[in-house]
Amino acid sequence: MLELKNVVCRYGNVNALNDVSLSVEQGELVTIIGANGAGKSTTLKAISGLLNPVEGSIHFMGEDISRASAQHIISMGVSHCPEGRRVFPQMTVHENLEIGAYVRKDRSGVAEDIDRMYSMFPRLQERREQAAGTLSGGEQQMLAIARALMSRPKLIMFDEPSLGLAPNIVEKTFEIIREVRAAGTTVLMVEQNAFAALDMCDRAYLYESGRMTLHGTGQEMIRDPHVRQAYLGG
Ligand SMILES: Nc1ncnc2c1ncn2[C@@H]1O[C@H](COP(=O)(O)OP(=O)(O)OP(=O)(O)O)[C@@H](O)[C@H]1O
Ligand SMILES: [Mg+2]
Repeated sequence: MLELKNVVCRYGNVNALNDVSLSVEQGELVTIIGANGAGKSTTLKAISGLLNPVEGSIHFMGEDISRASAQHIISMGVSHCPEGRRVFPQMTVHENLEIGAYVRKDRSGVAEDIDRMYSMFPRLQERREQAAGTLSGGEQQMLAIARALMSRPKLIMFDEPSLGLAPNIVEKTFEIIREVRAAGTTVLMVEQNAFAALDMCDRAYLYESGRMTLHGTGQEMIRDPHVRQAYLGG
């Protein structure tokens, strides 16, 4: 479904990604782990068209999207839930959810999906008319996830979905991600919480300083001595 081949991304003259190759098959839950600054978010930005690779290629459903616009990539069915809860602060919760569906034309399906989001996140329903910028951090994170789902993506990318959430909400968030995948959406997830991410994924990639240094199934990665020592606390 998604294939990155020898991708290089640069900010100014600094390479943030060096020769990264990875793939995601339809229906998989794939995770990327790695230290701060390793290039995880940059990978998601390159896939969603927020950044163009200077070398290498990115294919989605057989189409070369290396130079495609973010708008086009969204319309192909790729949704990006970015790091740091980027909701539209002046708009209400409800309006943020509607905006998430702007690429869709089936208005009744959109209304149904908004109801589905409210039953997944009752907190959002209680606050549907509240300006998103005044939600708590955790509530904004829930809204960002719900909004990303509103486009009914084929592939959804989550960047640090558990960041800043209380433990019970982290659990709930991971549960929702598992549900999303069980419902047939392919998931690519970046996560600091390496154990949880490796435990729930099919396959994982480890990044170190802009390079992909190791990949395998989640369980293989959990057993790997280097991963254990450096990312799972021994
Ligand atoms: N807009 C930018 N301009 C310049 N450098 C950038 C920019 N965005 C990211 N970088 C640099 O690129 C490198 C990779 O950043 P990236 O955000 O992909 O890391 P990450 O793996 O997501 O890290 P974290 O776990 O901290 O979120 C870092 O060294 C970062 O400083
Ligand atoms: Mg990041």
